[in-house]
Amino acid sequence: MKVLVIGSGAREHALCRALSLDPHVTALHCAPGNAGTEPIAQSHPVDALDGAAVADLAARLEADLVVVGPEAPLVAGVADAVRERGIACFGPSKEAARLEGSKAFAKDVMAAAGVPTARSYVCASPQEIDTALAAFGPPYVVKDDGLAAGKGVLVTEDLDAAREHALACGRVVIEEFLDGPEVSLFAITDGDTVLPLQPAQDFKRAYDADEGPNTGGMGAYSPLPWADPKLVDEVLETVLQPTVDELRRRGTPFSGLLYAGLAITSRGVRVIEFNARFGDPETQVVLARLKTPLAGVLHNAATGRLADEPPLRWSPDAAVTVVIASHNYPGTPRTGDVIEGLDEFASDDSRTWVLHAGTRRDDDGRVVSAGGRVLSVTATGSDLAKARERAYAGVARLRLDGSHHRTDIARAAAEG
Ligand code: AMP
Ligand code: GLY
Repeated sequence: MKVLVIGSGAREHALCRALSLDPHVTALHCAPGNAGTEPIAQSHPVDALDGAAVADLAARLEADLVVVGPEAPLVAGVADAVRERGIACFGPSKEAARLEGSKAFAKDVMAAAGVPTARSYVCASPQEIDTALAAFGPPYVVKDDGLAAGKGVLVTEDLDAAREHALACGRVVIEEFLDGPEVSLFAITDGDTVLPLQPAQDFKRAYDADEGPNTGGMGAYSPLPWADPKLVDEVLETVLQPTVDELRRRGTPFSGLLYAGLAITSRGVRVIEFNARFGDPETQVVLARLKTPLAGVLHNAATGRLADEPPLRWSPDAAVTVVIASHNYPGTPRTGDVIEGLDEFASDDSRTWVLHAGTRRDDDGRVVSAGGRVLSVTATGSDLAKARERAYAGVARLRLDGSHHRTDIARAAAEG
């Protein structure tokens, strides 16, 4: 099978790595790709948001399967353009990707499907904003309706800050605060059958002890030893299947990766958000544990044949990933800094590896930073403590001037 992955983050590197380990994959391409995907997947320059350009590239490469990584191309309709060219594509249509592209749309689908989520108001005027903030009280949860790379959400005790963020958003969703730990649960679906993956936990705040601003995610681990073993079945029944059924009923079936961001509250599981693609950095740890070859599952989802798929097989190992971010991330990151230490990772080490996100090769062939989240060091081990130890040993081998990372990824879970 010839596979083309669209995107250039650590998630796409993790997808390429898993696909490169699948014996059914005969050719692997990544567009645009990054300095880390290059050795395992042929890179092609492409504007990932340009559906016609992506479809042309897929046709030229005679791809049997296109996997669209990030949300922006999905929301822009890139999966539709690829499918219209007669090529199988893993990723939802533009219509179905609104589940991520518009928080108000997601709320509407959840209401229709009876999916448990925070009570909310969609507001467009200062009066509506003030009424909603007063109705819920602190802590205030204010969400930009549109895509914001994980940075459009403000959770604050400060009414003035909440109001200011809401006014800056235009259309905004204001909702009830959900307490309790967060879980990311991914499911692969063909629009009908839903195959949940193993749950993971992400660390959204920039600094240790959940201090600092929200980011795209600073680290993750899987499995979740503290979670109820029935969690996956419960979320399949109350969240994932009803959502997929509702979108099919509306005539806009969702095929691809449905990501449920959940809060485990004292009153039960609630959806915080849906995403329409693999999460980053959770994908790094979930795919590290998946034993079933990936390409076949994604192809079956893309071609509506997931009902025939045998149950997924999982490694009992734990996995931890730690993100190394540029100076000033999640603000405007400093880029162009040389990354040292990459050659200290043996390419045949199956227990610790580096996934690239914002990296590129400069004119001298050196790998330099090119974005906010730069690298994601991933490791496995027989338990979380061992995986964590390996991941941080890997982080210590890398040098990037001005960079920062969290030192507490998976710590609480590893310590029980
Ligand atoms: P989102 O982009 O919707 O995932 O929100 C980013 C982060 O904001 C989440 O991972 C949560 O940590 C936090 N958050 C979002 N919605 C809520 C909520 N209703 N209650 C508490 N925290 C929230
Ligand atoms: N890790 C959060 C996300 O992918 O949106």
